[in-house]
Amino acid sequence: MNKENESKAPDILPVPRTKEEAKRSYDRISRYYDYLTGAFERKYAEMALERLSVSEGETVLEIGFGTGHCLKRIAESVGPKGKAYGIDLSTGMMEISKERLEKAGLEDRVKLLCGDAASLPFDDSTFDAVFMSFTLELFDTPEIPKVLEQIKRVLKPEGRLVVVSMSKENGESIFLRLYEWIHNKWPKYVDCRPIYVEQSLREAGYTVKSKEKVRLFRLPGEIVVAVNRISGNIV
Ligand SMILES: C[S@@+](CC[C@H](N)C(=O)[O-])C[C@H]1O[C@@H](n2cnc3c(N)ncnc32)[C@H](O)[C@@H]1O
Repeated sequence: MNKENESKAPDILPVPRTKEEAKRSYDRISRYYDYLTGAFERKYAEMALERLSVSEGETVLEIGFGTGHCLKRIAESVGPKGKAYGIDLSTGMMEISKERLEKAGLEDRVKLLCGDAASLPFDDSTFDAVFMSFTLELFDTPEIPKVLEQIKRVLKPEGRLVVVSMSKENGESIFLRLYEWIHNKWPKYVDCRPIYVEQSLREAGYTVKSKEKVRLFRLPGEIVVAVNRISGNIV
């Protein structure tokens, strides 16, 4: 962790695993992922996606699309004149999503890429909106501002970003402490950990439009809606 991030977020746990380890782990669980997380995360991912308010004809990116449930909805919302893009580290996740999109007859309006979102392979000002569901908290602390900077680069001016994530806000609880203990013990398997979403977005220069606190079972989460504006936070 570098000094700058250490001073801003001293209590965010590190994510001590390599991208290769992350890829292997998500490849391994891709076929069972929906059974593992369905009840826990899906509801909030869908709630966050509603906040993105995707319209017909838009160009929208999902980062860390997993098994593709939200990407399918995004593809439906952009319609035949729009385009959905997804980038994910895991080829296993990509295969599952591809099957889902093909089954829904949506593959023509979606482009799937396998890669690391720390370096987005898109031109500047490409997207009207970017969506991230339970993925920002997988990046190690020094990488979070870099990922947010990459997103800012590929978003159009006034483009929207919605992030839903485990949150470090709301103070400590026994469940949070237990979860962090598990993360510390098996970071290669339990790689998510709570972060400060709103603060990270503000520090990266986004205008925060709204923030909702949610409960992921007993753990705190945040849904933050932000805009790629030059200045002026309004919350
Ligand atoms: C916790 S899952 C969430 C999946 C989906 N967004 C959801 O809400 O169900 C995180 C996803 O991010 C992907 N991922 C992890 N690290 C990544 C990275 N550096 N770049 C792009 N995707 C990544 C994983 O492969 C996985 O599909």
